[in-house]
Parts: sequence; C-alpha cells; structure tokens
Amino acid sequence: MFKRKDLLGLAELTPEEINFILDTARPMKQIILRDIKKVPTLRGKSVVNLFYEPSTRTRTSFELAAKYMSADSVNIAASTSSVVKGESLTDTGITLTSMGCDIVVIRHRESGAPAFLARNIPARVINAGDGTHEHPTQALLDLFTMREKKGGIKGLTVTILGDILFSRVARSNIWGLTKLGAKVRVCGPTTLMPRQIEELGVEVYHNIDEALKDADVINVLRIQLERQDKGYFPTTREYSRLFGLTKERLEKAKPDVLVLHPGPMNRGIEIAPEVADGLHSAINEQVTNGVAVRMALLYLLTGGGAIGEAVN
Ligand code: CP
Repeated sequence: MFKRKDLLGLAELTPEEINFILDTARPMKQIILRDIKKVPTLRGKSVVNLFYEPSTRTRTSFELAAKYMSADSVNIAASTSSVVKGESLTDTGITLTSMGCDIVVIRHRESGAPAFLARNIPARVINAGDGTHEHPTQALLDLFTMREKKGGIKGLTVTILGDILFSRVARSNIWGLTKLGAKVRVCGPTTLMPRQIEELGVEVYHNIDEALKDADVINVLRIQLERQDKGYFPTTREYSRLFGLTKERLEKAKPDVLVLHPGPMNRGIEIAPEVADGLHSAINEQVTNGVAVRMALLYLLTGGGAIGEAVN
C-alpha cells in the first residue's frame, strides 16, 4: 500500500512502494486507451498544477490525469500569478489550500522546493521536477515503460546517456532502477558527470560505444542547450559527434534494445531522428504511460482503495 502524504522523490520510496505505484498504473492505462476516457473515481477532489518552470508533457499529463478521473484541475504558471508580485511559496500554497485544493503538483527551479511546500501545507504535494534533484514521476513512467516492454526491471542493463550532472531525470531513474535490481550505467562528458556518482551504485563511462555494449535499455537525456554558453561542452556538433545516439551506435546494444527519451528532444543532437522514430523507440508510449502513472499517483494520494473500483 501507499501511505505517504506526498510524492517527493524515489530516493525515499521502498521497492515495494515503487512496484505498487507501477501496478496501479497498469489498469489506469486501460482507461486512457478507451474511447470514453472518464471514470468518477476522483469526483469532488481538486488538483492544482503550480509550475514555476516551463513544461508540456508533465503539466498536461497531470491535467488530463485529473480530468480522466473526474477531479477538478487548475493550472497556474508562476509567470502569470501573484508570484511576480513577490508572494512566497508558502503563502501561495496556503492560499491554494484555503480554496480547498487537495493536491498541489509543483515544478520549481530550486531543488527541495516541493519538500519545503509539503512541510508547510496540509494539501498533498507531488514533485513534478525540482532543480537538479528529482523528477520522480518521469522516472516512474520510464520504469513503467521498461517493465511493460521487457517484462521486468531486475537484471536489465540500462544506460543513461548525456547530461548526468544537471539531470533530475537521471537521478530519479538511478534511484528507481537500482532499487528494482537493474544494472545502471551512466555515460556523458567528464564535465557533465557529477563527482562520486558511483556511490549511487552506477558504473561510469565516458566512451559511448563501451556504455552501449549489450545494453537492454538506453535512456537518452536532453542536452540542456540553455547551458551551452557555460562551457560544459565545446559545441553541440562536438557533443553530437561524441555522445549522440545514432543508428550505427545502436547496433552495439542488444538487438531488442529499448530507446527512451524524457523529452523534449533535440533531434540531431543527442538523438538521431531515425533512432527517435525507429523501431526500438518507445518515446511516444512513454508519454501515454506518463498519464497512466500520474493517474495512479493522484488516486493513491487521495486514499485510493481497491483498484477495481477505480477503473469502472
Ligand atoms: N519530460 C518532461 O519533464 O517534459 P516537460 O518539461 O515537457 O514536462
């Protein structure tokens, strides 16, 4: 069972809790695939998406997840809210709670902002990505996709490729994958590799061909172009030459390798278009699975009971 008030990161979850969320997401996916995508499960509940950073996938999938389950959902972009008048995060959270909000989904540029909010408001808080810390719902949808495609996580060799230093997606994936028994490799330029990352139980590679050898899954990270002028790599062309996932490089991995990318993609930089759109890619399915995982979390955090009731 899932008894927590909030979902702040995968670092704090047990393997049993992670598997329970993934098990709950499976019937949720059936709802999304129906012609009429609506169940009354969360009728009377309200969800506020409070985003201090841009988002397409995460924000929209939380909004649709709430709507498919008949909850009321509202989006707040910090840039058009009273945050620009100087309102604090706590005051914003208390204001939302005073309106009857049950769950606040928050994305924030500062690591730890969702945990801070969770300590200061009675509403439940879901971390939709905080700084370089964690993006737990992205990792859960990645795990769900791997489990669906590969039949399980234990024993898989998963290569996470790209900007490990700034990637909250990488960190949440590392926590989730290692807890569920996968072998995790991280690969990227030395400048984009956090010090002592080995302590999280991963193998570090700087040569892409070695990192991809016999991999079951390759999770390609977005190269953060907004950091390009900071000197972490000389040019995007150079990055692409050394670390871009091409069709030729894919052949180093297992013949049935699964290719994932959290999006948004820089086609032709970290991933070749023919790989992104190729037979091994599950990038579009990841997006569908993201709605299912977020439905499961909204359901579990509002005290969801027997799963059969949730999908009828
Ligand atoms: N993967 C992800 O977080 O995408 P968005 O920034 O579009 O939400």
